Amino acid sequence: MKNETMDVPLFNPEISKADKKVILDSLQSSILSGGPNLKKFEALFAKHMGTKFAIGVSSATAALHLSLLSQGIGKGDEVIIPDFTFVATANAVALTGAKAICADIDSTLNISIKDIERKITKKTKAVIVVHFSGVPCKMNEIKKIVKKYNLKLIEDCAHAIGAKVDKKFVGTFGDTGCFSFFATKNMTTIEGGMITTNSRVTANKVSSLRAHGITKSVSQRYGSKHPWDYDVDEPGYNFKLDEMRSSLGISQLSRLDKIIKKRQRIAKYYNQKLKNVKGIEISNLNNKNHVYHLYIIKITDDFEMSRNTVHKQLKNEGIQTTVHYRPIHEFSLFKENKPEEFPNTNKAFAECLSIPFFVTITKKQQDYVIRKIKEL
Ligand SMILES: Cc1ncc(COP(=O)(O)O)c(C=O)c1O
Repeated sequence: MKNETMDVPLFNPEISKADKKVILDSLQSSILSGGPNLKKFEALFAKHMGTKFAIGVSSATAALHLSLLSQGIGKGDEVIIPDFTFVATANAVALTGAKAICADIDSTLNISIKDIERKITKKTKAVIVVHFSGVPCKMNEIKKIVKKYNLKLIEDCAHAIGAKVDKKFVGTFGDTGCFSFFATKNMTTIEGGMITTNSRVTANKVSSLRAHGITKSVSQRYGSKHPWDYDVDEPGYNFKLDEMRSSLGISQLSRLDKIIKKRQRIAKYYNQKLKNVKGIEISNLNNKNHVYHLYIIKITDDFEMSRNTVHKQLKNEGIQTTVHYRPIHEFSLFKENKPEEFPNTNKAFAECLSIPFFVTITKKQQDYVIRKIKEL
């Protein structure tokens, strides 16, 4: 066994038998988009999260984009985002015509609250926080800052569905919460997203913008005398979530709590086995609110091998790892954000490595990953 290699992927989505059944059932209907499954998924999601509204969209990127538009963000405005996030957070800002102003992170890999305050100018209209890797941001402190400066608050919950702060789910603190159901996420519709909000005005606005700017929903139109009687008062997008994805979302949401508990158990095993390895630091070790979209280790100077070499050596052993993510300031599109402003992000980017993590990972696979890291 010693010299044998084993292929261990970074992610491996779980589509259960029940998931497959609801997908096939949804295809039996004559309504494949804008039908009862979407309505049901939205209602169940809002109930689960404890928000008044939930609006299904085609991705978290669409959710962020429409959230910003619904808050009136556009050209001439600045939106503060963390430098350490997936580019979708920054792109959503750029797509509205506003400028993405990056803030550094703190030791949790989440946006630094001090740096948010430092980056506020007269042009700042909103803050987007990202609950990075599944660790909730300090929402009570962030709420105080946005209130003090009268800013809009959008939560990027792409990594953190089910995470809580003081028993309240992330995605319920801001003007909107934006969720991703991409294939690797804690629950999936393959591609898909959701916007949560307690504001009826915001809910109506994003509902219209996701469907071409049309002011009436499909059911409102077909329930009326003339389905073609509707208005368009601004250009919208086609960011709809179809019936098949919605049915998958309903099925996955019904076992979300179990999925999270399982992810926390898997993380606990890695924690136990890796926490005493010299030179390896486990990101957010002992954070009980972590819902583990990613399991991140930091390869510090004491490991005496660079992070890039660790990645390469593990790849040679069949183990897939990666870095989440290249900081926003490194992209040409966002180069107005200068590298020297982000010492913590730069350090995290040099040290972090995401290792294989998914609900169906076996003990054998975990033991193999652990052994290969220890043997380096
Ligand atoms: C932090 C963050 N925000 C937004 C997104 C965009 O999600 P989607 O792929 O659903 O558009 C991602 C995707 O990985 C992400 O990691």
